[in-house]
Amino acid sequence: MSGRNGGHMKFFLDTANIAEIRSGAELGVVDGVTTNPTLVAKEGKPFRELILEICDLLPKGVVNAEVVSTDSAGMMREGRELASWHPNIVVKIPMTRDGVRALYVLAGEGIRVNVTLCFSAAQALIVAKAGAYIVSPFLGRLDDIGQDGLVLLREIMEIYTANKFSTQVLAASLRHPIHVIEAAKMGAHIATMPSKVLEMLFKHPLTDRGLEAFLKDWEKARETLGEITEPAGARARQGP
Ligand code: G3P
Repeated sequence: MSGRNGGHMKFFLDTANIAEIRSGAELGVVDGVTTNPTLVAKEGKPFRELILEICDLLPKGVVNAEVVSTDSAGMMREGRELASWHPNIVVKIPMTRDGVRALYVLAGEGIRVNVTLCFSAAQALIVAKAGAYIVSPFLGRLDDIGQDGLVLLREIMEIYTANKFSTQVLAASLRHPIHVIEAAKMGAHIATMPSKVLEMLFKHPLTDRGLEAFLKDWEKARETLGEITEPAGARARQGP
């Protein structure tokens, strides 16, 4: 679990890659992981083994694992199985009619469900009513077809706030820092992002340029004054 601040927007990594998750976890800003069948398929490892390895890397984090059945009975069966692997697993179910039926039953059994592939406010409204723990609107994929994904996120936040739904909004398919910043401004509960986007959040060219100048000045001073690493306070205490 990340940081020490409460009530903040959570950061999830949108990957099933162990090296990426390990390096994200070390930073202390990663609260969980989202996987999907595409991301899992890339890793070439047995599904259960991979998901449990991810759970070990983030002992207090949330790990999202997705079903691949398309009928509600199959989704329920898979959802129960996935949830039994580890207490930190949230079951991802696609936004279909069968998906919502499965969600309703699984939520009734106390299983936390993240409804994925959400592309409209109407879909978000349906899944909140059926008891979703998380809804995942895909911002970047809407941008890709010429619609503004952030508009959808704003609509969902407005609907959930006005209706006091407890379903958490997870901004997904994020492509750049502006998506993350805007999601945070809207009070989205979670933002999931690929490692590349997380890395981008750290970067500013003025930080790099400023640091380079600081170090250059330090070296120049060292050349003329010798060692200057002694803290100024210590010098002052010693007196003249
Ligand atoms: O994991 C779901 C979602 O974040 C996928 O993102 O980049 O494949 O559109 P993307």
